[in-house]
Amino acid sequence: MSESTARKFTLLPMLGHTKGKRSAVTCALKCDNACSGDVCNTSSNSYFRDIASATMSRRAALGFGAAGALAVVLGSAVTSAEPAVAGGPGLAPAAKEGFTKSKLKFTPIPSIDAAVDAVTVPEGFTWQPVIRWGDPIFNGTPDFDLNNQTAAAQEKQFGYNNDYTDILEIPGSKGRRAVLFANHEYTNENIMFPATMPAEQMRAVGQAAHGLSVVELERKNKNKPWTYVKGAPLNRRYLNNTVYELTGPAAGSALVTTAEDSKGRFIKGTLGNCAGGTTPWGTILSGEENFQGYFVGNGTSAGDKRYGITSKPTARKWELDDPRFDTRTAGYENEANRFGYIVEVDPFDPTSMPKKHSSLGRFKHEGANVIIAESGHVVAYSGDDERFDYLYKFVSKDKYIEGDRKHNMTLLSAGNLYVAKFTGNSPVAEIDGKGTVPADGSFDGTGEWLPLVVDGASAVKGMSVEEVLVYTRLAADKVGPTKMDRAEDVEPSLHTGKVYVACTNNSDRGKAGKEGATEVNPRNLNRDGHIVEITETGDQTSTKFQWNLLMVCGDPAQGDVTYFSGFPVDKVSPISCPDNLAFDSVGNLWISTDGAPSGIGKADGLFKVTLEGAERGKVEQFLAVPRDGETCGPIIHDEERTVFVSVQHPGEDGSFDDQHSFFPDYVAEGTTPARGQARAPRPSVVQVFRG
Ligand code: FEO
Ligand code: CA
Ligand code: CA
Repeated sequence: MSESTARKFTLLPMLGHTKGKRSAVTCALKCDNACSGDVCNTSSNSYFRDIASATMSRRAALGFGAAGALAVVLGSAVTSAEPAVAGGPGLAPAAKEGFTKSKLKFTPIPSIDAAVDAVTVPEGFTWQPVIRWGDPIFNGTPDFDLNNQTAAAQEKQFGYNNDYTDILEIPGSKGRRAVLFANHEYTNENIMFPATMPAEQMRAVGQAAHGLSVVELERKNKNKPWTYVKGAPLNRRYLNNTVYELTGPAAGSALVTTAEDSKGRFIKGTLGNCAGGTTPWGTILSGEENFQGYFVGNGTSAGDKRYGITSKPTARKWELDDPRFDTRTAGYENEANRFGYIVEVDPFDPTSMPKKHSSLGRFKHEGANVIIAESGHVVAYSGDDERFDYLYKFVSKDKYIEGDRKHNMTLLSAGNLYVAKFTGNSPVAEIDGKGTVPADGSFDGTGEWLPLVVDGASAVKGMSVEEVLVYTRLAADKVGPTKMDRAEDVEPSLHTGKVYVACTNNSDRGKAGKEGATEVNPRNLNRDGHIVEITETGDQTSTKFQWNLLMVCGDPAQGDVTYFSGFPVDKVSPISCPDNLAFDSVGNLWISTDGAPSGIGKADGLFKVTLEGAERGKVEQFLAVPRDGETCGPIIHDEERTVFVSVQHPGEDGSFDDQHSFFPDYVAEGTTPARGQARAPRPSVVQVFRG
């Protein structure tokens, strides 16, 4: 059978689950089996403890009180001159009132069996899709037709596997108009395309289903659900030929030039977009995460090895159509160096050129989230989602100017970059590798932000600033940061300035030859993950911090050793593999999960966590996603008693002829679906509301 007629993905494992986490299909397609291969980080950084720091009080650790926290919120408020950031970090209106009760009241749902193909919401709530894979975005765009897909149509339709999502109110619309952003992390050709589709066509449609989408929404009033508007002025698809400007010190470097871009400043496309963040000035940040899975390399250079690029054909084989995806091709040796950045887009200007910010470093960015320090500098936190990789922080050179959006959109182009080192305060013997809380009652300690770039210059011996920002993992290895259990979303609270790090899992911790449990990553063979809470010492730009674990995840009823900041373990919703984080308007943390089926054996979901007061640590499940799916991109508009999630990879383990899910267009048994109606799952953004 020729390449053009062969199914591309027939060699993919179709059954079973990989060690410790996802289905084998998700691992192959989403991360290029990042967790099955060798650990990329072979550096010899070791863990360091400082018992003396145990004497520092929690009060001192906070660094600032309520007044300081309020200043953070006010300092980051979006003015009328800028787009209103509904639910984003720039707007936390209820923060001024302190930790009040949320208007979004619900009775938690029980854990849902992983095989259930349904969206489960609390009693009194209902849900509907806002937009689905394949929905037409522009005037004249054809409706989705599962059996007749083309690249030309897909380029004008909503992409596949939506991950980071936000909804920003359009200024002057009185709450009746908004713009929705979603990125599209990857594709699953096994369930998207009929076997009769030629391989070239699959590749072309698949490419067009990657990238980003911006779509306008409308509603009659604040009590009605949002619907998307086909042909609206702000609608836009960002595709693999969309040009991004590279900013910061790596722009123009010889490390990023190619035959097509001899100046090293303009990059086609964005890949592996995972989580993200919304800035106080109303732009969207998106993290290029598993970009390595799209490139064939030499597989032997230090850069290829540290980023997991191999010489094997890629899962999607785009290298057959476009030489830039094979970096062994003359002129394209640096193409992979042009991915792995934080992307910034302006959803309010469909003609704007999006950016990739080299100042925030190049690694498998889960996402990035911004807070404005009391000094006015912008601080962005970002996790590198790989076993035993690191946590980073960027501090802008210039200061935020309220109302000056043009200026604020330059802030992520220049600044200092740091990587985190955590030090525990309990004796090594008390960290038993199971998650048992040490004798001082807490997994906690001190930390330091180790400089990689300061004042535009490299802080890493033997590496130029360009090298530090293109090979950030190799640079970080040299300064001794802490190896984490896959840092996913990192989200600062606008209510307290505390920073939350979702460490999703690490099935290799404690294995032969690998680092064992430490106080900040306290479980060997970490299946269920944990959440770190960081309190900067003083201003958010500080290079010192205190830390503690908010929770050590799992299902206490199954006998897992868990910790929920002292909240009774028999009164929480079981939770596993925390991934994306969000806050509601009164400062509660919301967590979406990815991998719970392979952890606690239940469907992934969305959970509310109380952070302050007597119920600190209480976990309540709000929602569960359909079979094989992952919960992404939570948006909590609790003031309007509504929540949004992106449902990613529903039915992942099925095949086109044996689908595991029919989300979201469930059809009653015995009825015939109309032409064009999905009989394949369609990843979608879902709104949950009272009804
Ligand atoms: Fe794409 Fe780290 O999850
Ligand atoms: Ca301790
Ligand atoms: Ca994620």
